[in-house]
Amino acid sequence: MRVVVTGGAGFIGANLCRALLARPEVTEVRVLDNLSTGRKSNLDGLAVTFHEGSILDRELLDEAFTGADAVVHLAALPSVPRSVADPLASHHANATGTLEVLEAARRAGGLYVAAASSSSVYGANRELPKRETMRTAPMSPYAVSKLATESYLGAYHHCYGTGVLPLRFFNVFGPLQPAGHAYAAVVPAFLDAALDGRPVTVQGDGGQSRDFTYVGTVAQVISEAVVRRVVSADPVNLAFGTRTSLLELIELMGEVLGQPVERAHVDPRPGDVRDSQADNARLRELFPQVVPVPLREGLERTAEWFRTLQARVP
Ligand SMILES: NC(=O)c1ccc[n+]([C@@H]2O[C@H](COP(=O)([O-])OP(=O)(O)OC[C@H]3O[C@@H](n4cnc5c(N)ncnc54)[C@H](O)[C@@H]3O)[C@@H](O)[C@H]2O)c1
Repeated sequence: MRVVVTGGAGFIGANLCRALLARPEVTEVRVLDNLSTGRKSNLDGLAVTFHEGSILDRELLDEAFTGADAVVHLAALPSVPRSVADPLASHHANATGTLEVLEAARRAGGLYVAAASSSSVYGANRELPKRETMRTAPMSPYAVSKLATESYLGAYHHCYGTGVLPLRFFNVFGPLQPAGHAYAAVVPAFLDAALDGRPVTVQGDGGQSRDFTYVGTVAQVISEAVVRRVVSADPVNLAFGTRTSLLELIELMGEVLGQPVERAHVDPRPGDVRDSQADNARLRELFPQVVPVPLREGLERTAEWFRTLQARVP
């Protein structure tokens, strides 16, 4: 089968391309990416067909989707603070972009579409763990755009019979996730600082908690979904129900790195949620065979990747 990955040059996308290429059922992987936050070098050595440009470009979408069987839609501006700084840009890329992808999938003859939503849609709803049936309460333009993403998938299933799977990612981490920029995620930002001997910057008191998922596990679930054409009009949490505070994460990082990790506290971020933890019953039902990589092992693999990266910098 032929699979298109939008946003395939990004962190999760490039890890997914590797996982897809390892499946005997997958004969071709195509990537459509405008390289706004992704890097072409993330795909070095991989036998993928690359279509450079935006999901807002209909002609390019048609070119990439012709003759394909499935789309994994990951392209988005993926950050809460970025969306607070520029809400319209997030809306165009994430909400309008998803609609364009769904329309192109329809034009191409009804391709299967799995797409990335986010745990941020639960927002101000403080109940834990987060069940997919709970009220959504987005606290940022990014979260609104992700709610639009998953809602459009559901609507296309109901209106046009499109095979869809909206997946709510929680905090994904692992190799290829970049550190040194203003919107860096917490694991790479912390690892980069700690390996460099700098204190890690904690926004708020560090008591906020997250359900961390190793990127290899995420890629395994999505590959399974594509190959078995797993369909759900309703969103599915893609996390395994663990809950780790940032202070616990820093402690574990110190153990993994074999060195104490210093920290510096700054003001909390606007639009940030306090606690996050998935209910994974629906995920387990659809993907009973997937065994997640534990946090410690995932951190070890990620630290290893960071060390190789730092060794390459003169
Ligand atoms: N990393 C996480 O913890 C996390 C959590 C929840 C949801 N997600 C979602 O998962 C997806 C992948 O995130 P990621 O962490 O790999 O981020 P990423 O920034 O590494 O990947 C996003 C990719 O999309 C591309 N892109 C952005 N706008 C585009 C456009 N208009 N046209 C074509 N390509 C475009 C970027 O160049 C990049 O390669 C995103 O949809 C994100 O919202 C990620």
